Amino acid sequence: MKMASRFSVVEAGPPIEVFALTKSFTDDPFPNKVNLGVGAYRTDDCVPWVLPVVRKTEQQIANDLSLNHEYLPVLGLDSFTTAATKLLLGQDSKAISEGRATGVQTLSGTGALRVGAEFLARLLKYKTFYYSTPTWENHRLVFMNAGFTEPREYRYWNAAERCIDFDAYVADLKNAPENSVIILQACAHNPTGSDPTPEQWEKIADVMQERKLFPFFDSAYQGFASGDVEKDAFAVRYFEKRGFEFVCAQSFAKNFGLYNERVGNLTMVFNDKEVIAKVKSQVTLVIRGMYSNPPNHGARVVSTILNNPSLYEEWKGCIKTMADRIMSMRKGLRERLEAKGTPGTWEHITKQIGMFSYTGLNLRQVEHMVKEHHIYLLKSGRINMCGLTTKNIDYVANAIHDSITKLPE
Ligand SMILES: Cc1ncc(COP(=O)(O)O)c(C=O)c1O
Repeated sequence: MKMASRFSVVEAGPPIEVFALTKSFTDDPFPNKVNLGVGAYRTDDCVPWVLPVVRKTEQQIANDLSLNHEYLPVLGLDSFTTAATKLLLGQDSKAISEGRATGVQTLSGTGALRVGAEFLARLLKYKTFYYSTPTWENHRLVFMNAGFTEPREYRYWNAAERCIDFDAYVADLKNAPENSVIILQACAHNPTGSDPTPEQWEKIADVMQERKLFPFFDSAYQGFASGDVEKDAFAVRYFEKRGFEFVCAQSFAKNFGLYNERVGNLTMVFNDKEVIAKVKSQVTLVIRGMYSNPPNHGARVVSTILNNPSLYEEWKGCIKTMADRIMSMRKGLRERLEAKGTPGTWEHITKQIGMFSYTGLNLRQVEHMVKEHHIYLLKSGRINMCGLTTKNIDYVANAIHDSITKLPE
C-alpha cells in the first residue's frame, strides 16, 4: 500500500512560461520549427556561442596551477567587483574616484536583484517597489521573496502606438510614496526593446528626486544592446551625475555569454563614503545567510578579461559581433514584412534595441504561429531576435504574414 506523503498538501505552482515554451519546442518533431522564446544569444546556425575570448581565458585559467578551489570571500572576488563597477560607472566616475561606489559579487543579475532587494527591505525597511508594465517576469517574484510587501506597477507601454507611454510613466512615478524603490531597466528594456530617450531619463530623474524615490537599476544587457558598452551605460551614469544614491544589478550572462556561470555584481553608489564599511558588513550577513559564498569560475573569467587591455578589446569585438547580428536580423525581418505588404507598420522592429522585439502580434496570432507554423514565442508577442537566422528568416516572415492576414485584429 502506498504511504501517504506529508507533501501531498503541496499544490503545483504555475509553469514558468519561457521554460515551458522551450520544452514544447524541444518535444516538437517538426523539422523547420523555430524557437523565438529563449532569452539567450544564438549564432546564425542557431547554436549557443562561447565567446572566443572567454574560451581562451578559460583555457589559461585551467592551465594556471597557482589557482585553487578555496572559498572566495562572502562579497566575492575583489578584482572582479572593482572592474565590474568601473565598467558600469565609467573611467571618469566621480563616485569611484571619491570612494563612494562599491560592488558585491552576486549570482548573476537575478542574485544581485535579490541581494539588493533583501538589503533594502531588511536594513532600510523599504516595503514598496515599482516595476514597469510590462517587465521581465521575475522582478516581482524576486522582490517579494526578498521581503518587499507592496508590489506596484508603473505604466510603460503604449500598445497601440508601440512606444513608451511616457506621460503615464511619469504620472505613476509622481503618485509613488516616498522611499518607493523603482526598478529601472538600464538599457534594452525586456520585453519591449524600447528605452527612454536621454531627455526622458532627465525627466524621470527630476520626478524621482522630487518624490524622493530610490532607483534600483537592472543592467542585464550592457554592450549587448547597441554594441557599445559606454553608450548602454548612459542612464546609470546620468543618475550618478545627478547625485542620486542608487544600486544597480549587473548581469554578465548575456554580454559574456556566461549564462550558467551566474556572474553578477551589485554596484552601490552612496553620497558619503563613510557608510560603505557598515553597509558591506550588513550585505555580508545577507549573503552569508543566503548562500554563504559566491562561485569563482565565471567571475575569474570576467575579471581576467576586464583587467587586461588586449582581452578587453577582444571582448568588445565579440559583443559587437552579437549586437550586429541582431541588428541585421531586425533589418531583414522588417524588409521582408514590408515587401510582402504585411498589414501594420514594421519600423518598430528596427527601432527597438537589444535582443527582444515586441512584435505587436496578439494572443490569437501567437497561438496560430505556434500551432500552424511551429514557431514558438511568448504570449505577449515578444520574440528573441537571436532565434532568427539567415536560413529561417523567410519562413518566419511568411508565418507572421500568414498569421496577421488570416487572423486580423
Ligand atoms: C531585465 C532582466 N533583468 C535581469 C535578468 C537576469 O538574468 P541573469 O540572472 O541570468 O543574469 C534578465 C535575464 O533575462 C533580464 O532580462
